[in-house]
Amino acid sequence: MRSMIQLLSAAAIVCLLPAAAHAQNQGATLFQSNCQMCHGADGKGSTPTGQALKVVNLHDPAVVKMTDTDLANVIGKGKRNMPAFGSRLTPPQIENLVSFIRALQKQ
Ligand code: HEC
Repeated sequence: MRSMIQLLSAAAIVCLLPAAAHAQNQGATLFQSNCQMCHGADGKGSTPTGQALKVVNLHDPAVVKMTDTDLANVIGKGKRNMPAFGSRLTPPQIENLVSFIRALQKQ
Protein backbone atom coordinates (compact mmCIF):
# COMPACT_ATOMS: atom_id res chain seq x y z
CA MET A 1 0.00 0.00 0.00
CA ARG A 2 2.75 2.40 0.99
CA SER A 3 4.69 1.86 -2.22
CA MET A 4 1.47 2.33 -4.16
CA ILE A 5 1.09 5.78 -2.58
CA GLN A 6 4.72 6.57 -3.34
CA LEU A 7 4.22 5.48 -6.90
CA LEU A 8 1.10 7.62 -7.25
CA SER A 9 2.71 10.73 -5.78
CA ALA A 10 5.75 10.27 -8.00
CA ALA A 11 3.43 10.04 -10.99
CA ALA A 12 1.61 13.20 -9.83
CA ILE A 13 4.90 15.12 -9.57
CA VAL A 14 5.95 13.96 -13.02
CA CYS A 15 2.62 15.15 -14.39
CA LEU A 16 2.56 18.52 -12.62
CA LEU A 17 6.15 19.74 -12.94
CA PRO A 18 6.27 20.15 -16.70
CA ALA A 19 3.27 22.51 -16.71
CA ALA A 20 5.42 25.57 -15.88
CA ALA A 21 8.28 24.38 -18.09
CA HIS A 22 5.78 23.79 -20.87
CA ALA A 23 4.52 27.41 -20.75
CA GLN A 24 8.09 28.65 -21.02
CA ASN A 25 8.93 26.26 -23.87
CA GLN A 26 5.87 27.39 -25.75
CA GLY A 27 6.96 30.97 -25.14
CA ALA A 28 10.42 30.15 -26.51
CA THR A 29 8.93 28.67 -29.68
CA LEU A 30 6.60 31.65 -30.13
CA PHE A 31 9.48 34.07 -29.52
CA GLN A 32 11.63 32.30 -32.13
CA SER A 33 8.98 32.52 -34.81
CA ASN A 34 7.49 35.98 -34.04
CA CYS A 35 9.99 38.14 -32.18
CA GLN A 36 13.53 36.92 -32.70
CA MET A 37 14.08 38.61 -36.09
CA CYS A 38 13.86 41.99 -34.35
CA HIS A 39 14.70 41.27 -30.72
CA GLY A 40 17.44 38.64 -31.27
CA ALA A 41 17.57 35.24 -29.54
CA ASP A 42 19.03 36.90 -26.42
CA GLY A 43 16.43 39.71 -26.40
CA LYS A 44 19.09 42.40 -26.77
CA GLY A 45 17.84 43.53 -30.16
CA SER A 46 21.27 43.46 -31.78
CA THR A 47 19.97 41.96 -35.05
CA PRO A 48 20.23 44.17 -38.18
CA THR A 49 16.42 44.54 -38.24
CA GLY A 50 16.40 45.30 -34.53
CA GLN A 51 19.01 48.02 -34.91
CA ALA A 52 17.30 49.55 -37.93
CA LEU A 53 13.98 49.73 -36.04
CA LYS A 54 15.57 50.89 -32.76
CA VAL A 55 14.40 47.88 -30.79
CA VAL A 56 14.42 48.14 -27.01
CA ASN A 57 16.79 45.79 -25.17
CA LEU A 58 14.48 43.47 -23.22
CA HIS A 59 17.11 43.39 -20.43
CA ASP A 60 16.86 47.17 -20.04
CA PRO A 61 15.93 48.07 -16.42
CA ALA A 62 12.97 50.06 -17.78
CA VAL A 63 11.55 46.89 -19.37
CA VAL A 64 12.41 44.72 -16.33
CA LYS A 65 10.44 47.22 -14.22
CA MET A 66 7.29 46.95 -16.38
CA THR A 67 4.51 44.76 -14.99
CA ASP A 68 3.42 41.57 -16.76
CA THR A 69 0.23 43.40 -17.77
CA ASP A 70 2.27 46.26 -19.32
CA LEU A 71 4.32 43.74 -21.32
CA ALA A 72 1.20 41.88 -22.46
CA ASN A 73 -0.34 45.21 -23.55
CA VAL A 74 2.68 46.21 -25.63
CA ILE A 75 2.77 42.77 -27.28
CA GLY A 76 -0.97 42.88 -27.98
CA LYS A 77 -1.25 46.51 -29.07
CA GLY A 78 2.24 47.32 -30.37
CA LYS A 79 4.25 50.48 -29.76
CA ARG A 80 5.87 52.73 -32.41
CA ASN A 81 7.93 50.30 -34.61
CA MET A 82 6.84 47.29 -32.55
CA PRO A 83 4.00 45.54 -34.40
CA ALA A 84 0.75 44.58 -32.59
CA PHE A 85 0.28 40.83 -32.12
CA GLY A 86 -3.20 40.93 -30.59
CA SER A 87 -4.86 39.63 -33.74
CA ARG A 88 -2.25 36.94 -34.42
CA LEU A 89 -1.67 35.51 -30.93
CA THR A 90 -4.17 34.35 -28.29
CA PRO A 91 -4.06 35.83 -24.76
CA PRO A 92 -2.55 32.55 -23.37
CA GLN A 93 0.17 32.69 -26.06
CA ILE A 94 0.96 36.30 -25.05
CA GLU A 95 1.15 35.17 -21.40
CA ASN A 96 3.61 32.44 -22.41
CA LEU A 97 5.72 35.08 -24.17
CA VAL A 98 5.68 37.25 -21.04
CA SER A 99 6.96 34.31 -18.91
CA PHE A 100 9.60 33.63 -21.55
CA ILE A 101 10.76 37.29 -21.44
CA ARG A 102 10.94 37.09 -17.62
CA ALA A 103 13.11 33.95 -17.86
CA LEU A 104 15.32 35.69 -20.45
CA GLN A 105 15.75 38.73 -18.17
CA LYS A 106 17.08 36.46 -15.41
CA GLN A 107 19.85 35.08 -17.63
C1 HEC B 1 9.35 44.27 -36.55
C2 HEC B 1 10.22 44.18 -35.40
C3 HEC B 1 9.64 43.67 -34.09
C4 HEC B 1 9.05 42.45 -33.87
C5 HEC B 1 8.75 41.35 -34.87
C6 HEC B 1 8.75 42.42 -32.45
N1 HEC B 1 9.15 43.58 -31.84
FE1 HEC B 1 9.03 44.01 -29.84
N2 HEC B 1 9.79 45.86 -30.20
C7 HEC B 1 10.18 46.34 -31.43
C8 HEC B 1 10.57 47.73 -31.31
C9 HEC B 1 11.08 48.62 -32.42
C10 HEC B 1 10.42 48.06 -29.94
C11 HEC B 1 10.67 49.43 -29.28
C12 HEC B 1 9.36 50.17 -29.22
C13 HEC B 1 9.57 51.58 -28.70
O1 HEC B 1 9.85 52.45 -29.51
O2 HEC B 1 9.45 51.75 -27.48
C14 HEC B 1 9.93 46.86 -29.27
C15 HEC B 1 9.67 46.78 -27.93
C16 HEC B 1 9.27 45.63 -27.27
C17 HEC B 1 9.09 45.52 -25.85
C18 HEC B 1 9.38 46.62 -24.82
C19 HEC B 1 8.22 47.54 -24.74
C20 HEC B 1 8.49 48.81 -24.00
O3 HEC B 1 7.48 49.45 -23.66
O4 HEC B 1 9.65 49.20 -23.79
C21 HEC B 1 8.67 44.24 -25.60
C22 HEC B 1 8.35 43.63 -24.25
C23 HEC B 1 8.57 43.57 -26.87
N3 HEC B 1 8.95 44.44 -27.88
C24 HEC B 1 8.20 42.27 -27.03
C25 HEC B 1 8.04 41.64 -28.27
C26 HEC B 1 7.53 40.31 -28.44
C27 HEC B 1 7.14 39.37 -27.32
C28 HEC B 1 7.49 40.06 -29.77
C29 HEC B 1 7.00 38.83 -30.48
C30 HEC B 1 5.62 38.45 -30.25
C31 HEC B 1 8.01 41.24 -30.44
N4 HEC B 1 8.33 42.17 -29.50
C32 HEC B 1 8.15 41.35 -31.82
C33 HEC B 1 10.21 45.64 -32.62
C34 HEC B 1 9.70 44.37 -32.82
